[in-house]
Amino acid sequence: MNQKVYSRIAGTGGYLPEKILTNADLEKMVDTSDEWIRERTGIEQRHIAAEGQTTCDLAEQATLKALDMAGLEASAIDLIIVATTTPDKTFPSTACLLQQRLAIHGCPAFDIQAVCSGFVYALSVADQFIKTGMAKCVLVVGAETLSRIINWTDRNTCVLFGDGAGAVLLEASEQEGILSTHIHADGQYEDLLHVPSGISKLPSSDSIEERTMNMKGNEVFKMAINTLSRIAKETLEANGLQKEDIDWLVPHQANLRIINGTAKKLKLSADQAVITVHKHANTSSASVPLALDEAIRDGRIQRGHMLLLEAFGGGFTWGSALIRY
Ligand code: ACO
Repeated sequence: MNQKVYSRIAGTGGYLPEKILTNADLEKMVDTSDEWIRERTGIEQRHIAAEGQTTCDLAEQATLKALDMAGLEASAIDLIIVATTTPDKTFPSTACLLQQRLAIHGCPAFDIQAVCSGFVYALSVADQFIKTGMAKCVLVVGAETLSRIINWTDRNTCVLFGDGAGAVLLEASEQEGILSTHIHADGQYEDLLHVPSGISKLPSSDSIEERTMNMKGNEVFKMAINTLSRIAKETLEANGLQKEDIDWLVPHQANLRIINGTAKKLKLSADQAVITVHKHANTSSASVPLALDEAIRDGRIQRGHMLLLEAFGGGFTWGSALIRY
């Protein structure tokens, strides 16, 4: 009988651009306060890509760190998936641009667009490739320059987001790794969270609102809390596990209140949820791999631990991954 094949995390990496924008800086830009931002979101600062610095630049830095941790050469990679909502160009995909930077040729490379759930979606796709024997070493990256689609005069959104990248190298292994992934979408909520224009749908005027993120934050908040609890339950049930079996919640970093609410419903102590949102705000598809990388590097996440990754974002899209690290 053939041995079961798992996708095992071989290495992780994270990168945040140098420039930091604090809540105090934002106080000078819009009618907001450090106190409001901290209380409502937990965010203290965000990183902003330098002029000319692109999503692929951030993705490359995170990838180099993941390769280093895994002790692998880029030539080992046989599939590249980049989750991003803010690609460098309309085409080629950011994954193809990243492939060029890594100086590897021929392996498939493509982008996935599922906004804040993008990394979990990409992980799910990568896992299918590994389980079916189509790939043996997959680079999965979540990378964003969200600062480019933010209206810096809109206090409802500009305080919430930042730029960054996180990367994970998955290798085919007989040892346990990804146990299951669960991805979903419901397109009926488009108007609650979207950028009204893009490539095919051009802005009808030169108003900044049409080219930047629009969000009905309060309604998104309620949907996020309920959906994230549901997906955690779905994931545990699919694996015949109980809440107590989870060692670490590695959630999308949108809002500290959402993370704490989800952890509470899972009966996890506050320090079992990996929290990085205070340092870099919501980096969309980069947020889960950035949190994962931090907790692996500082030693909180150890080999053998059970991890629940989960995310919710524009689309709406949502998803989870249960991983034996
Ligand atoms: N500073 C000061 N006051 C503000 C600010 C600000 N930056 N932003 C909004 N306010 C005001 C509002 O105008 C409102 O004032 P009013 O009562 O006079 O009308 C008041 O604060 C309360 O606003 P709410 O929107 O009800 O505040 P809430 O507690 O819901 O917090 C927030 C807002 C932080 C946006 C929250 O709703 C949230 O985190 N939503 C979810 C975001 C999310 O998870 N997005 C999903 C992923 S993002 C993606 O996929 C790209």
